[in-house]
Amino acid sequence: MHDIQRELDAKRNRARQGGGEKRIAAQHAKGKLTARERLELLFDEGSFEEWDMFVEHRCTDFGMEANKIPGDGVVIGYGMINGRLAFAFSQDFTVFGGALSEAHAEKICKVMDQAMKVGAPVIGLNDSGGARIQEGVASLGGYAEVFQRNVMASGVIPQISLIMGPCAGGAVYSPAMTDFIFMVRDSSYMFVTGPEVVKTVTHEEVTAEELGGATTHNTKSGVADLSFENDVEALMMLRRFFNYLPLSNREKAPCRPSGDPAARLDHSLDTLVPDNPNKPYDIKELITKVVDDGDFFELQPDYAKNIVIGFARMEGQSVGIVANQPLVLAGCLDIKSSIKAARFVRFCDAFHIPVITFVDVPGFMPGTSQEYGGIIKHGAKLLYAYAEATVPKITVITRKAYGGAYDVMASKHLRGDVNFAWPNAEIAVMGAKGAVEIIFREDKGDPEKLAAKEAEYKARFANPFVAAERGFIDDVIQPHETRRRICRSLVMLKDKKLDNPWRKHGNIPL
Ligand code: COA
Repeated sequence: MHDIQRELDAKRNRARQGGGEKRIAAQHAKGKLTARERLELLFDEGSFEEWDMFVEHRCTDFGMEANKIPGDGVVIGYGMINGRLAFAFSQDFTVFGGALSEAHAEKICKVMDQAMKVGAPVIGLNDSGGARIQEGVASLGGYAEVFQRNVMASGVIPQISLIMGPCAGGAVYSPAMTDFIFMVRDSSYMFVTGPEVVKTVTHEEVTAEELGGATTHNTKSGVADLSFENDVEALMMLRRFFNYLPLSNREKAPCRPSGDPAARLDHSLDTLVPDNPNKPYDIKELITKVVDDGDFFELQPDYAKNIVIGFARMEGQSVGIVANQPLVLAGCLDIKSSIKAARFVRFCDAFHIPVITFVDVPGFMPGTSQEYGGIIKHGAKLLYAYAEATVPKITVITRKAYGGAYDVMASKHLRGDVNFAWPNAEIAVMGAKGAVEIIFREDKGDPEKLAAKEAEYKARFANPFVAAERGFIDDVIQPHETRRRICRSLVMLKDKKLDNPWRKHGNIPL
């Protein structure tokens, strides 16, 4: 008995050493933690239960039969994050560069399958040289097994990827299908083909960092949702982020009440919107003044900044916030911002998180680059996402809601539950000046007459009351009471039930 126990300890120690001291030192020298160190930080102290520590690869080519390390380059298991269950896999770069073998993939699939059975999120800590080259197609098959599970889990359990090292080639497509991608600056990168291949094929010279580093994916491509300074910050923020999410689509996100009163008024909001309709203001000021404790967890803050998305709480309940940002491109909707917000709305809808939309939108972005880029299809994504969503939807129009963009931004017509407008809101087909220039074209040479018509148009349409007369706006509210009115609406909507007609799946414009 004693011998067996000793053998077990020895085996465990062997697995815990991963690729050995030298490789662990190299990992640390790059500013990276090891797979197990990361899991220790991610989960509540002592809560992580590891599985498949003794799994080894089955490859016999290229001398691999003599080169086996227990665990085979990935640590899997489950534990608690702030007392709530989560599953995780953490790739170990010190073992075969974290490369994915068939056995490595089977381990990842094991936690994904179990997470689906019990209804809990899967967090992937990615740090891998890609497909295990010695295994060939067995490894590619392993990836596809993971991809298939990513798709089946989509909308059932939250899936979060943290990119903490290389993630290249086919390896990118598992994170790509998860709900959120966070990256660590300077030590992680993601690309389909690396700098060498890029140089051969397109003759472009680009570094790995420029091609697929955290900054690139958080500012240029929109592939990532956030970037962090180092492993520790990324893991700590992931723990915070986790609190906003439900464990699965079977339940609601946890309520974390705060001392912030639901009826709190904020009179500074009455002067937030400048009198001059062409002057910008920061919509984030409104968000932080309305949500619990001013705490807003923004996603994609450096990408498509003309729309702001993220999580917050109202009376302790998780909510998704979508807001046009007048500070950037006057808050216009363009291709990138439509896609950014659409995907977020769909996540919230899949996981019962109410969506609060703050609207100040002068319309869709004009121009050939937008039209050639397919703004028609991409703008339709946001429209589709809002129209399809059955979660509570509360909308506040703070200033402009012009044209088709008015319809898109969670309007009453798209089954908005509660639609408010501030008193100075302008809900119209377009701004008064543009409108008059079109409908009174024959008076082009008569500036006085045009000015009179503009004033008339403004008086008639540049207000929220025409929409309110039709019931498109449920109430015109004072800016300072926005929080109170939203909180009350959320209470009213707590048990909202709404189903879409049965279908295999809709056909969102992709
Ligand atoms: N398959 C098998 N082993 C791999 C591997 C892979 N895909 N990627 C890395 N490794 C091994 C390396 O052979 C090395 O082993 P060693 O320490 O026994 O020599 C170890 O992992 C560490 O890799 P190394 O290249 O020394 O690390 P690095 O930080 O300098 O570079 C990469 C990291 C990912 C850029 C580099 O390893 C690489 O280009 N790997 C191949 C990527 C690829 O083409 N993957 C297949 C397509 S998906």
